[in-house]
Amino acid sequence: MSFRLQPTPPARPNRCQLFGPGSNTKLFAKMAASAADVINLDLEDSVSPSDKDSARANVIDAINTVDWNSKTLSVRINSLDTPYWYRDVVDVLEQVGDRLDQIMIPKVGNAADIYAVDALVTAIEAAKGRTKRINFEVIIESAAGLVNVNEIAASSPRMVAMSLGAADFAASMGMQTTGIGGTQDNYYMLHGDTRHYSDPWHLAQTAIVAACRTHGILPVDGPFGDFSDDEGYRAQSRRSATLGMVGKWAIHPKQIGIANEVFTPSTEAVAEAREILAAMAQATANGEGATVYKGRLVDIASIKQAEVIVRQSELITG
Ligand code: COA
Ligand code: MG
Repeated sequence: MSFRLQPTPPARPNRCQLFGPGSNTKLFAKMAASAADVINLDLEDSVSPSDKDSARANVIDAINTVDWNSKTLSVRINSLDTPYWYRDVVDVLEQVGDRLDQIMIPKVGNAADIYAVDALVTAIEAAKGRTKRINFEVIIESAAGLVNVNEIAASSPRMVAMSLGAADFAASMGMQTTGIGGTQDNYYMLHGDTRHYSDPWHLAQTAIVAACRTHGILPVDGPFGDFSDDEGYRAQSRRSATLGMVGKWAIHPKQIGIANEVFTPSTEAVAEAREILAAMAQATANGEGATVYKGRLVDIASIKQAEVIVRQSELITG
């Protein structure tokens, strides 16, 4: 129990975050024209070490010259264990205008990582007279990130979102897989001769959702590497949405439509949520705290569940 109200996360759609390497300038206009809610220009792992400087320059130019419409615009900087990250922050923040909304900090392991970046960003903002505060989103993709997920979520007022990075997470945990998200062949229970596959990402996802919801930030599912597998991506997205995540990364344009569809509550779900709210309004008018809807119990907690769906829908349809 807590008497404190759970803070509300930023009220903006975040169904799909589309990534593109900062070294691939051909993609920028296509990314801007896509249906993704969030654009992540990458300086980290999709850019080879020899391209780090030119990718940074490309991204600065793209932020300043491409028409990004109403998209949330983010740059993924390099991680704090590299020689690149400080220049990513300094050059980008000194050379771009207010169009940039946030930076994504990868491989975050504890709150001190965020404190270090926050100190640098705060100094640059003051020195350059930047008026719009740069927000932070982070990737939980290590054993330490999972262990310290709560302090990371609480680490700075700049924090707006947190993603699960399945590939680095699997490596850090020593998981026997090279898959990036989704079903893993060796993670199953046997019932008689029948295999029932379990979800090896479930614990990390749930921990991220709980940390995010506690601190009013957006929980997001990260990449799904096999972009030829639409149904696998859809299944992973549906599991994430069911657990409370608001969206998922796309690493290929094929994935955007699926994420947008899954993370937009369906017409039927919204209609049902509104019917539950109406049934509960009637119950309350009758002095009752619970009633029956389609043969099942609905009560005061059902109001909150239904409101989650209606709020999500209103956020997206505007
Ligand atoms: N954003 C926008 N458009 C993209 C895109 C992206 N991330 N990835 C591919 N496209 C475009 C291609 O340019 C191509 O456009 P065209 O039809 O005008 O020629 C079209 O979509 C089809 O692309 P396709 O040929 O199937 O893929 P590819 O071989 O060009 O690229 C990848 C495949 C995986 C290398 C590329 O999708 C990519 O770089 N993805 C992002 C990787 C990334 O950022 N990773 C970091 C986060 S994990
Ligand atoms: Mg990673």
